[in-house]
Amino acid sequence: MLNILIISDEAKGIASLFRSTGFTPDTRDMKQASAAPQGADEASDHYDIAFLDLDTDNWQERLLDARHSMPVIAFSRPDLHKAVEALKLGAGDYLEKPLTAEVISEVVGRHQKKILSHKYGFDEIIGNSAPMQEVFGLIKKAAASESNVLITGESGTGKELIARAIHRWSPRSEKSFMTINCTAIPDTLLESELFGFEKGSFTGAQYTKKGLLEQALGGTVFFDEIGDVSPLFQTKVLRVLQEGEIMRIGGMRQIRVDLRFITATSRDLKTACQRGMFREDLFYRLNVINIHLPPLRDRMEDVALLAKHFVQKHATKRKDVLIKCISGEALSLLLEHSYPGNVRELENIIERSISFANTSEILPADLPPDIRQAQAPARQHRAAAQLLKDALTTVEKETITAALLESNGNISRAATILGIYRQQLQRKIKQHKITM
Ligand SMILES: Nc1ncnc2c1ncn2[C@@H]1O[C@H](COP(=O)(O)OP(=O)(O)OP(=O)(O)O)[C@@H](O)[C@H]1O
Ligand SMILES: [Mg+2]
Repeated sequence: MLNILIISDEAKGIASLFRSTGFTPDTRDMKQASAAPQGADEASDHYDIAFLDLDTDNWQERLLDARHSMPVIAFSRPDLHKAVEALKLGAGDYLEKPLTAEVISEVVGRHQKKILSHKYGFDEIIGNSAPMQEVFGLIKKAAASESNVLITGESGTGKELIARAIHRWSPRSEKSFMTINCTAIPDTLLESELFGFEKGSFTGAQYTKKGLLEQALGGTVFFDEIGDVSPLFQTKVLRVLQEGEIMRIGGMRQIRVDLRFITATSRDLKTACQRGMFREDLFYRLNVINIHLPPLRDRMEDVALLAKHFVQKHATKRKDVLIKCISGEALSLLLEHSYPGNVRELENIIERSISFANTSEILPADLPPDIRQAQAPARQHRAAAQLLKDALTTVEKETITAALLESNGNISRAATILGIYRQQLQRKIKQHKITM
């Protein structure tokens, strides 16, 4: 079921029209809800699509607030100027009043694909697990803010994908997204690559060249593998962040850099700072918003959805057979694997299987040999983890029961004995179904 938000002075009336088409919308009636903090609720993660009445006060701000979190459909009495302005500000569509049930159904249908991908992932980012849902929330927050973002996670967890999504959903989306692969730039070329040079500034500078940062002005710069850069690189980047200005080699004037910085690394930068390998001042500047991508083995509930997504993504590579799905048995084998290479490894497995499949379904025989021979160690590891989890649960339950006996069933006293909060204890009692 879609969560539709209607923002209008006449929200109540319009809502009944939505109900007649089978939707149950939430309304923000601006006349009645004038005290509500503007934008706060609308920008929440809760809605899938918004309908915004342009005949409402402050509609521009409301549009800017809402468009980061969901597609916004603008509507008003026929007004070409408003329509153009709304579309420029990021509305996904414009409708003229009076709205009709048919038009509403049609426009919701048209945006369905975007809404669904939004619900189960962010654009092409798939993930239904709790940690990935948290990541989607952070992407939205990061997109709506100008703060620097540091994306961390093992290789192949999707760091670049996330960086691109933040840019695409940010107000800078129309401007460039510049990926700078930090490890590919040697110190000797660092300044000319990042800042550019003026003609004649050194032997061989036969023309003026804009550096990568200048080329990206107004957009987003993505420093990939920032954890592997030299001390010189760190110092140069820090200076750009501190001063907000750059100068071409041989240049005479400072150029203000209007840029948003996103960085990614598979290293543990905190430890690198402690060891003196990474500048702490730079780390704090970069790590304003941290998005950590857990390894795939810690979110195995995403495997099936990801596998399905990759089948669709790569099916076109087979011209002779249309590969549609993965058999239950093959999927079980995929769920046994521990994915040291994370999502990239799963994607490669599916891509390879598509080339091997003989029918429209991927079967166990189409999977790589190491996946086919179900991974006994992985299974044993999981079984051991489960044993440990069960043992800890039993110990916890026994300890709580003992504390409750000692306190004669007084929860506050038992909580004091255990050194935890009362609410925490109540939750645990419920969780373990302890009766007194
Ligand atoms: N959640 C996801 N949904 C869909 N595809 C994903 C997801 N995560 C990763 N991928 C895919 O997996 C591949 C690897 O992702 P990406 O390059 O973003 O990883 P990375 O963390 O930057 O890896 P590295 O550290 O090795 O550079 C890409 O093809 C990407 O599209
Ligand atoms: Mg990468």
